[in-house]
Amino acid sequence: MTTDPTTEVTIGIFGGTGQTGRHALHHALQLGYAVRVLARDPGKLNVQHDRLTVVQGDFENVAALRETVKGTTHVICCAGGSYGKGYDKGMMTRFIARLWPLLCAEPSLKAFLFQSVFFAPEPDGSNPLILKLLAPPAAFFTGASEMLKDNGAVMRFLAANRSDTFGSIVTRPGKLVEKTGGVALVASRTPSFAAISFADLGAFTVGAVQDASLYGRYPFVALKP
Ligand SMILES: NC(=O)c1ccc[n+]([C@@H]2O[C@H](COP(=O)([O-])OP(=O)(O)OC[C@H]3O[C@@H](n4cnc5c(N)ncnc54)[C@H](OP(=O)(O)O)[C@@H]3O)[C@@H](O)[C@H]2O)c1
Repeated sequence: MTTDPTTEVTIGIFGGTGQTGRHALHHALQLGYAVRVLARDPGKLNVQHDRLTVVQGDFENVAALRETVKGTTHVICCAGGSYGKGYDKGMMTRFIARLWPLLCAEPSLKAFLFQSVFFAPEPDGSNPLILKLLAPPAAFFTGASEMLKDNGAVMRFLAANRSDTFGSIVTRPGKLVEKTGGVALVASRTPSFAAISFADLGAFTVGAVQDASLYGRYPFVALKP
């Protein structure tokens, strides 16, 4: 199904079939926004809506990437690869480098949000001490070493290629669990070890990409105090 984006806010989503992205997609539709989503297998989305435009394709398909971001005001990337040895090394860095010129060419775009991993340091290498200490063993035991490297490289790419015309945000959520949502989350300067639901993270992300106070920042995600 395709629609022309007509509402004031049009959210582009990469990773919309994933654990966070599917909630971001539903939440954006619930709020009355237009949504454009890239999906390798549109059948996995399991949703039809007159404000939803589904573009079939993958990260290699530049035409599909361009079509996904066409007319968007905000773009969210909740995509990623698998944990462990099967991780396609550098996949997110290649994808973001391919996507970037398309975002820069999109006149309506106000902000881009990239969902990274908890342990990834800021581009200047800074990270709270607790995460510096925990990152190597945590990445090793969860099989996320390559994912962590890749996400760090994306964050350095975004910092080195800041746009004058739209803001970028990198979120670093911590422990995520599949449970019912309904809990308010906030952007935080300090890491939170509390478990948060994919549903709440999806909703938070749709709000965060529209929060200009977060542009240029790398917030953790915490329960609202
Ligand atoms: N899960 C966690 O516990 C956790 C915690 C903290 C941070 N994070 C970060 O958040 C990101 C998102 O995590 P998640 O668990 O919500 O995602 P996920 O469930 O692993 O979903 C990944 C998404 O990326 C899409 N994708 C992967 N490769 C693609 C390609 N080549 N072309 C098009 N689409 C592609 C997948 O599409 P298909 O459905 O077609 O495979 C899927 O929609 C992760 O990468 C990680 O960096 C995750």
